[in-house]
Amino acid sequence: MKKTQAPLELPPLKTLLGGISPRTFFRDYWQKRPLLVKNALPGVENLLSPAQLRAYADDEDGESRLVQKKRGRWSLDYGPFDSDTLNNLPNKDWALLVQGVNLLDPAGDRLLNHFNFVPYARLDDLMVSLAPPGGGVGPHFDPYDVFLIQGIGNRRWEISTQTDRSLVPGAPLRILADFQVEETFLVEPGDLLYLPPQCAHNGVALTECMTLSVGFRSPSFEEMTVQYLNHRIDTVEAPGHYADPDLTPTQHPGEIPSAMLERIAKQVTRALDGSKGGLKASIARYLSEPKPSTFFTAPARPPTLAAFMQKAARHGVRLHPGSRLLWHKKQMFINGESLTPTAAERTALITLADQRSLIGEAIPDTAIPRLHEWFCTGWLVYGSQK
Ligand code: SIN
Ligand code: CO
Repeated sequence: MKKTQAPLELPPLKTLLGGISPRTFFRDYWQKRPLLVKNALPGVENLLSPAQLRAYADDEDGESRLVQKKRGRWSLDYGPFDSDTLNNLPNKDWALLVQGVNLLDPAGDRLLNHFNFVPYARLDDLMVSLAPPGGGVGPHFDPYDVFLIQGIGNRRWEISTQTDRSLVPGAPLRILADFQVEETFLVEPGDLLYLPPQCAHNGVALTECMTLSVGFRSPSFEEMTVQYLNHRIDTVEAPGHYADPDLTPTQHPGEIPSAMLERIAKQVTRALDGSKGGLKASIARYLSEPKPSTFFTAPARPPTLAAFMQKAARHGVRLHPGSRLLWHKKQMFINGESLTPTAAERTALITLADQRSLIGEAIPDTAIPRLHEWFCTGWLVYGSQK
């Protein structure tokens, strides 16, 4: 009899939301108003050093940007950036931003666990910025929720609820043309500032500073509609041709008969409604798609099923940090694909989705072929601990 894996222990961090429960946070702040929590993540400044971040900015697989402000003009460059470029930067007024640090750094991935009171379908990634005094990306707003965690150094955050969203014309990044500061926060290592979508903000480094942003995705309705329509193009079934055995003579052959339009519209609507159930699965597949910058590497020598089984039982397995495994009712969605697990696999796969790892004792033999396949695609790795 296989063991059921104990629920994921919440990180021992009562401080994260400043003593309020996640439920209260959602009710009073999430998507509503900013929240500053002093010393929310004590010690977080030791998670990543400026040198490590500079190295990630030079990673071919990383996504990095450099924002500079020179004589009042903003510039934006895309990485990778080698150490010479970074070492030759001035000692003020720039910001280096590296997206997807959770994919590059296991400690960055672990940090996201603290936020697992939010469904993974909403989570985007961990972005980390490094800036000398005066550095920042200018006043702007984002269309998503963000937890801004202060790593090393001190930063001044200015925020505003202004509705004037006009941008500086011609700037290479979105800078608010008329930012009206309403509130200012001085943050130190370990402090956390939650900002709801559309809340204008401007973070200026006061000393050399690193900020870790846990960002959320808010997929656009247009993208999901287009994805669904593309799926329907491949799957739609509308057999038969138009027929009108009841046709009567017309005096206006140029006129389209109403009966003709109605009859065709009825058939097309029937074809489109045919598999409405597929709509939610299409949305769920979309939500499970990895970030476009994610690459999975298949193991150089894929193990046999038997070898995989043995090693997985000994070490457990965990999802590659870029893998997105989600579930809804009886269906599961991984990296843009859907599957309906058997009853025997279900409990283990749900645990894998919720906890992102499985201890060896919790892996039933019935799940081995599927896990083996995911392992051979690079979606899964050995080891239940990061
Ligand atoms: C930063 O870390 O400098 C920018 C984060 C943000 O404003 O969204
Ligand atoms: Co922002």
